[in-house]
Amino acid sequence: MNNTTNPPYPSPGAARCPGPSTRDLILRDADDAPEALTTEAYTFLGDQDIPFARYTSRAFYEREIERMWSRTWQWACREEHVPQPGDYVVYDVGPYSVLVIRDEKIRAFVNSCPHRGMQFCEAGSSGSGKQFIRCPFHGMSWNLDGSLREIPCRWDFPHIDDATFRLTEIPCDTWGGFVFVNLDRNALPLETYLDVLPAHFANWRLEDRYVALHMRKVLPGNWKMVLEGFLEAFHVLATHPEGLRTAGDANAQYDIFGRHVSRFIHTIGYPSPHLQRQLSEQELFAALGHREVLPNGIGARQRHADLLRENLSRSMDVDLSKVSNSEMLDSIEYFLFPNACFFPGISIPLIYRFRPLDVDHSVHEILILRPVPRHGPRPPPAPVIDLGIDDSYTSVAAFAATGLAYVLDQDTENFKRQRAGIKASLMAAQTLGNYQEARIRRFHMTLDEYLAG
Ligand code: FES
Repeated sequence: MNNTTNPPYPSPGAARCPGPSTRDLILRDADDAPEALTTEAYTFLGDQDIPFARYTSRAFYEREIERMWSRTWQWACREEHVPQPGDYVVYDVGPYSVLVIRDEKIRAFVNSCPHRGMQFCEAGSSGSGKQFIRCPFHGMSWNLDGSLREIPCRWDFPHIDDATFRLTEIPCDTWGGFVFVNLDRNALPLETYLDVLPAHFANWRLEDRYVALHMRKVLPGNWKMVLEGFLEAFHVLATHPEGLRTAGDANAQYDIFGRHVSRFIHTIGYPSPHLQRQLSEQELFAALGHREVLPNGIGARQRHADLLRENLSRSMDVDLSKVSNSEMLDSIEYFLFPNACFFPGISIPLIYRFRPLDVDHSVHEILILRPVPRHGPRPPPAPVIDLGIDDSYTSVAAFAATGLAYVLDQDTENFKRQRAGIKASLMAAQTLGNYQEARIRRFHMTLDEYLAG
């Protein structure tokens, strides 16, 4: 079929994939999904091309560092990473380094000594038991609330005022069990910045989950390019075609909730609208990994959700009886500007974070958050597993077991070739779809707002 002629489309942004929408499919479920999952929030944002220089220019990268990374809320760690007074984690992005440490409350300080700039703790490090913060260079020290504790050879610093010679404290707040920091001391309150997230996640309570797996992998691409690979399901058709039998890709729902928050919902347990031949419910059930015959009157998605609910309730020691099919199965991804994705679903319980290493490389961090078991103590957070640029996600057995590792390897192969293709292009810019790639457009609009100062 020739797919290149221009049919008479409705107004820009109004066209959708023929067939049922994500909302239609969720409303078809026998149970009631939370209202947040049947809410739609899309507005046409324009169709101008996005310049490739944003991914390749050193000057653009440095403007991002100076004007955006220094002024946005970013999650630094989980509260469970700093459970006791004296526990600390160092969060780094670009040239910035932040020491997150628990006093009576969790605080964040610039990881740089007021004396001559020495880093208190190494980049990326963590630890516990600090009674105070002591600089390893000359031994000046500060209390955990940032107040000055001691200056060796105090007689040599008569010009220092003890009351003002404090550590540089920056805004720090928590949401969903995550510790957020912002290098801008005039930042908007976190709650305002989070747009709809607190309301939508009120019943998903990420604070009641624990870090079951934590990985950090270097990716071959500008941080925006790799992030954007995770903001749309349009690429499933060509990049992950094995998923078409069980995933609603072209009819995924995209929502823009404000400057900082967007979302997609991508149903699992319904076939792709791209399939030439529709599957029977039994074929769909088999494609979802089951050998049994479907009981009479029960659809593949329902039965798949029921079995998962039963199995995961038992294996994770949690009560999932009131969790809807959509929350059990679907790929529900909320993006928080500039670099974080939160998946509240049960079978796809991912957290992503992307950080720049340089113009051409980035770090993709993945957490799997599982509900805290009903019985026994809260499991400790999993240690970080570092993967190099050539390491496969499948080398982490626990991640390979989720079935997601090979999918991310496919994405990584794309990033290598997209990075090279962007540099080779004789065109000046990329062209986005009006609906399926709207989150990418909103992301760039918000980035521009920060870069404009
Ligand atoms: Fe920190 Fe001198 S640089 S005490």
